[in-house]
Amino acid sequence: MPKTVLVTGGAGFIGSHTCVELLQHGYDVVVVDDHSNSSPRALERIAKVAGTPLAAVYGIDVRDRRALSSVFAAHRFDAVIHFAAKKAVGESVEIPLEYYDINVGGTTALLAAMHEHGVHRLVFSSSCSIYGNATEVPLTEQSPAGPTNPYARTKLLCEEILDDACRRLPELSVLALRYFNPVGAHPSGLLGEDPHGVPNNVMPYVAQVAAGRLPRLSVFGNDYPTPDGTGIRDYIHVVDVAEGHRTALEHLGDENGMRVFNLGTGVGSSVLDLVAAFSEASGRQIPYEITGRRPGDVAELVADPSAVARAWNWATTRDLATMCRDAWRFQELNPTGYGA
Ligand code: NAD
Ligand code: WQD
Repeated sequence: MPKTVLVTGGAGFIGSHTCVELLQHGYDVVVVDDHSNSSPRALERIAKVAGTPLAAVYGIDVRDRRALSSVFAAHRFDAVIHFAAKKAVGESVEIPLEYYDINVGGTTALLAAMHEHGVHRLVFSSSCSIYGNATEVPLTEQSPAGPTNPYARTKLLCEEILDDACRRLPELSVLALRYFNPVGAHPSGLLGEDPHGVPNNVMPYVAQVAAGRLPRLSVFGNDYPTPDGTGIRDYIHVVDVAEGHRTALEHLGDENGMRVFNLGTGVGSSVLDLVAAFSEASGRQIPYEITGRRPGDVAELVADPSAVARAWNWATTRDLATMCRDAWRFQELNPTGYGA
């Protein structure tokens, strides 16, 4: 019997790639997404890339408990992957209550539906942002949490809620995956990151500079204590993130309770490394200027990915050049994202 998985936020950047990965491995996939930050066209692309359709799609808000309960009543889910959330750090400072409502309220609504319908297995999207101002790199899962903005606090709070739920409900198995910086796109060029307006994150910004849609990149500070002075991050290919989720599903049954893993490569790249790699991948100049630091930014965030390697015998396989090449292909084939 194929396994049936509910993917909340399945039309989003990471969700869409994960749906493809699951469909290609024989899972039946049901998506819940209110399209507050995604295009329904991503769902058509998922079916096209995977060569097989999604089992069902529900355009609902995960906080709508009645609608969510009827989704659970209509399917027998073996597991849930919960991507649906708001994720823009700067916006979370402007509208913190909305972030708590959607990210935390969405998670508790989902847990209630799972409990009501006897579904006990969950993979949760957490974030490296919960580490905040890291004092040591690479970061292990035991590194202290110190979120510095409301978005990151919602993710830490969700982890704590899930931990409390697991203590109370011994049948629950939860894997919280702390992704570092997911970037890139599906190698088909049909799926990728489609931010609304001017991108906040560096990779889609650089892609639009390479394409000539934006004049130049502002490099936010070159006075960090790093070799070239610019911020260092652990960029991870979104297809590696998707494969990580499929692998997580396979390990939900290993033991019950709450487990937390980093999802990163262990390789740090500076902003200037990224600019050089993207320029090489695209064959385009990436004009940039050094500007002041972005408030709230930290010098270096790099994962120690060894825990997941030990637990699942799994590691990422795609390097920065591949991330840039795939992001560029998506940019070239979809100059205005899914809106084209
Ligand atoms: P995304 O915005 O592309 O995808 C999120 C999806 O959830 C969107 O399709 C959106 O329409 C949907 N959604 C939002 N609120 C909803 C609601 N209330 N009900 C139903 N659907 C809703 O984001 P992404 O980059 O794919 O991120 C997925 C998850 O991973 C998020 O939880 C995010 O916080 C987390 N994460 C992302 C990154 C990153 O850099 N992209 C890093 C770490 C963690
Ligand atoms: C990366 C580097 C910037 C834009 C964010 C979230 C984090 C997680 C991953 C969700 C930094 C520099 C950026 C630009 C630049 N998401 N930069 N010019 O901030 O590391 O992480 O995504 O959980 O929570 O905060 O990613 O891509 O914004 O920045 O120089 O125009 O690029 O200073 O060094 P960040 P980013």
